[in-house]
Amino acid sequence: MSVLDLFEEKDVVKVCAPMVRYSKQAFRHLVRSYGCDIAYTPMIISESFVQSKKARDVEFTTNAEDRPLIVQFAASKPKDFADAAEMVKPYSDGVGLNCGCPQRWAMAEGYGSYLMEHGELVKDIVLQTKQRVGFEFPCEVKIRIHKDSRKTIEFCQRAERAGADWITVHGRTPKERKEPVHYDVIKLIKESIGIPVVANGDIKSEEDVLKVKELTNVDGVMAAQGMLNNPAMYAGYDITPMQCVEDWMDIALRLGTPFRTFHHHLMYMTDSWHTKSERMVFNNLSSVPAVLNFLEVHYGIT
Ligand SMILES: Cc1cc2nc3c(=O)[nH]c(=O)nc-3n(C[C@H](O)[C@H](O)[C@H](O)COP(=O)(O)O)c2cc1C
Repeated sequence: MSVLDLFEEKDVVKVCAPMVRYSKQAFRHLVRSYGCDIAYTPMIISESFVQSKKARDVEFTTNAEDRPLIVQFAASKPKDFADAAEMVKPYSDGVGLNCGCPQRWAMAEGYGSYLMEHGELVKDIVLQTKQRVGFEFPCEVKIRIHKDSRKTIEFCQRAERAGADWITVHGRTPKERKEPVHYDVIKLIKESIGIPVVANGDIKSEEDVLKVKELTNVDGVMAAQGMLNNPAMYAGYDITPMQCVEDWMDIALRLGTPFRTFHHHLMYMTDSWHTKSERMVFNNLSSVPAVLNFLEVHYGIT
């Protein structure tokens, strides 16, 4: 079954965002067990991925259960993205091109939102990749928006013509950080292209999912911060349920998650549970036994 079938079947496809350092195998496994339909890897630099086995081993771990999976790459050259896509094709359900990262280092390398001003290059990247890996292998494009929404629509239409299978829109410009998300522009994009559109930005609860669907008529929603704070949000929980923390401990420890990642996720997930002083103590713990002991003493989690 193609991941594209999900867009046909579901009223709204629920997606866990690519997140550097966080959306790794164990976390993807966790969110899928709480209603997430598609999970992304963190952004991987296609050039190093293609050139170095070490980079591949560090950046991309997966197993047969880790599906549906989209591998997101940063790319500035069509060949790098196509090579990377070819390598991950057997282990994934599609690739994503990052056109949204606003960080200065990424822009300087020609990655991320640099590509928002270079629609012709994005067309080449998508087209050459589809020609190489086959048109049946999905290729997504994740964007931010321009100040002038006509430019964004033109950009998306061009990506669609090149063969992009769906577009994820973080409804902010590259300069915007905490400003309100421009759902009106996401709605406009949805009305202007024929492929599915996934809305992203400030979706933190099931209520937000319904609200954004209503506002934009998109085919799917993607959440990042909301998923970190509450990996069970797509299953309708308002805050992380205890069971989800227990599941994280099982999955993460079974898959050999490094302590820093294990602990950081727990800090996010349990943030709303703690008092200020408990949070200070919890966030400064430095070993797995100390974390397990804290959660058992304070919340009875074993
Ligand atoms: C910790 C973190 C890491 C992120 N890493 C990536 C990434 O690797 N690729 C990407 O396209 N966006 C990345 N983003 C951006 C998110 O995917 C998303 O577009 C943005 O956070 C807005 O969604 P939100 O309001 O649900 O957090 C990251 C965001 C966060 C919070």
